[in-house]
Amino acid sequence: HPTVDPINYDDILNIVNHVRSQVTLTEEPKIGIICGSGLGDLAELLTERQVIPFTNIPGFPPTNVIGHKGNLVFGNLMGKFIVCLQGRFHPYEHSMNLALCAMPVRMMKEFGVRTLIISNAAGGVNSAFKWGDLMLIKDQLFLPGLAGFSPLVGINDPRMGPRFVSMHDAYDLSLRQLAHTVAHEQGIVLHQGIYVMCGGPQYESPAEVCMFKTVGADALGMSTCHEVTVARQCGIRVLGFSLITNIANQEADTAVEVSHEEVLVAAKEASERACKFVSGIVEKL
Ligand code: 6GU
Repeated sequence: HPTVDPINYDDILNIVNHVRSQVTLTEEPKIGIICGSGLGDLAELLTERQVIPFTNIPGFPPTNVIGHKGNLVFGNLMGKFIVCLQGRFHPYEHSMNLALCAMPVRMMKEFGVRTLIISNAAGGVNSAFKWGDLMLIKDQLFLPGLAGFSPLVGINDPRMGPRFVSMHDAYDLSLRQLAHTVAHEQGIVLHQGIYVMCGGPQYESPAEVCMFKTVGADALGMSTCHEVTVARQCGIRVLGFSLITNIANQEADTAVEVSHEEVLVAAKEASERACKFVSGIVEKL
């Protein structure tokens, strides 16, 4: 287990204070959004936007994944004041320091966020899924978390929330019902399934994909579960969805190369649909 710099609660308060000094907040954002691939454009739709690049926030780690922007954005969407993370921190970029990668969720909690919408790009495992589909996350298989790479390991400051966190309602049922209603109204395909977070950054081999399929996985990615775990610790309710950017290989003899470019192309194609979907949900919250 590599030693990682812990990020303690006072570090988070310092980040919050710094951000507060950079923006004018006339009310608390009650809704937070983490924009994964395919949802990056959402932050551009906010009105009365206040944008702070991650690079201007002391304590924020550097980001450099192609296709991900790095901004903290406050503004209005469908008449509601929200905070958006335009880009996120992947554990594979930060030596599997999951607490650091999930720190923005604790920051959002301090700003007053009560509902978090999280999106990601994922490989489809369920054979019913097609390129470009959306999948609502019903539950998760948090592989790094099960293997000791949880954002909750280490000394637990009670200001973060409880030591032991129940994950029985990780993805809020009433929010999922709302999402289905919005998808129906907008005439978009919305599957529901189990999301697996792998450490990455390599994509899974066909045999690994088959293993995950056997244990009930529907989609595979490299993010989200650490953020959701921290959100649940601090009592934020979560809606999560995956954009299926490619179909994961399941047979070595017929497997094709998985490319990050393909993932980015799918994300771009789905952007408008995903942004409209999230706007529809925010409107009804
Ligand atoms: Cl196939 N696997 C993982 N882990 N992440 C992905 C993916 C696959 N496709 C997009 N993101």
